Amino acid sequence: MILQHRNRILRRNAAIRDMVAETQLRSADFILPVFVTEGKDVVEAISSMPGYFRRSLDKTVEEVKELWSLGIKSVLLFVKCDDALKDNTGKESWNPNGLMQQAVKAIKDAVPEMIVMTDVALDPYSEYGHDGIVDVKSGYILNDETVEALIKMSLSHAAAGADFIAPSDMMDGRIGMFRKALEESGHTHVGIMSYSAKYASCFYGPFRDALDSAPGFGDKKTYQMNYANRIEAINETLKDVAEGADIVMVKPAMAYLDIIREVKNAVTVPVSAYHVSGEYAMIKAAAERGWLDEEKAILESLTAIKRSGADLIATYFAKDAVRLLQS
Ligand code: PBG
Repeated sequence: MILQHRNRILRRNAAIRDMVAETQLRSADFILPVFVTEGKDVVEAISSMPGYFRRSLDKTVEEVKELWSLGIKSVLLFVKCDDALKDNTGKESWNPNGLMQQAVKAIKDAVPEMIVMTDVALDPYSEYGHDGIVDVKSGYILNDETVEALIKMSLSHAAAGADFIAPSDMMDGRIGMFRKALEESGHTHVGIMSYSAKYASCFYGPFRDALDSAPGFGDKKTYQMNYANRIEAINETLKDVAEGADIVMVKPAMAYLDIIREVKNAVTVPVSAYHVSGEYAMIKAAAERGWLDEEKAILESLTAIKRSGADLIATYFAKDAVRLLQS
């Protein structure tokens, strides 16, 4: 055969493949979700997330120091709130001495350069496990009342020293309200990473085990997006950008690579993708059975998410990925 092009030339050996690789993962791409719980000297396993833990503040600080030494530069904080503190208003979420606020301060004290992002949504604090305030008569999640509550929550995170608030609640109009509240209160350096296209997904199951935050009734389909929709994701994201989002997010990641690409093409702010708990659990479970090579599955998944258009990836595999990239 005499061929004009032999595409395999560029795949002949590892050095050539590496030279022409279009996508490269870097440790600065990763945001590591961190689960904080009450107590001292506590490191609790999460059964549906093997190899992942909830830690008390003291242990969280130790962990964050290690993360920084490994080259992980950003953490996304979630807290597991005591049942006794949960109610329908979620008011524990803006307690200046609440677990989240203490965690932000402790991490910023220990590792000032670590980028600290905080989850903003009421579910860990809600007696109903919903992201917003429930209208008890109808079961509907109230939009505007929830946004008012989340403003208080956001400002308390900013006051504690958060670098970014990360609203995962999917209420309407919240980004503009948060930006305005941050400006008016002098927190002009605090960024907003908006969960812009967050789908109502079964892949959040293990996370809800981890934080004991599963909805007590119904589902989240009146606020999180229908997974059948693509154009709606652009609509949501463009609105968040117009309202002042600094970073936008698509969530989950692996089943939504088309959405990540669409969003990347539509906006000029950084795009993040959340490789969620169920996506973590699937790889772990298959690897435990010997059905998948875990390390290869991690690198292929994260590279595919980045290739699809994600500038940043929130992933429970961040530590593994950084280790694998160094080896
Ligand atoms: C809650 C929130 C959820 C996740 C992040 N923030 C769960 C939900 O919306 O029910 C999921 C993260 C994961 O599954 O890893 N606002």
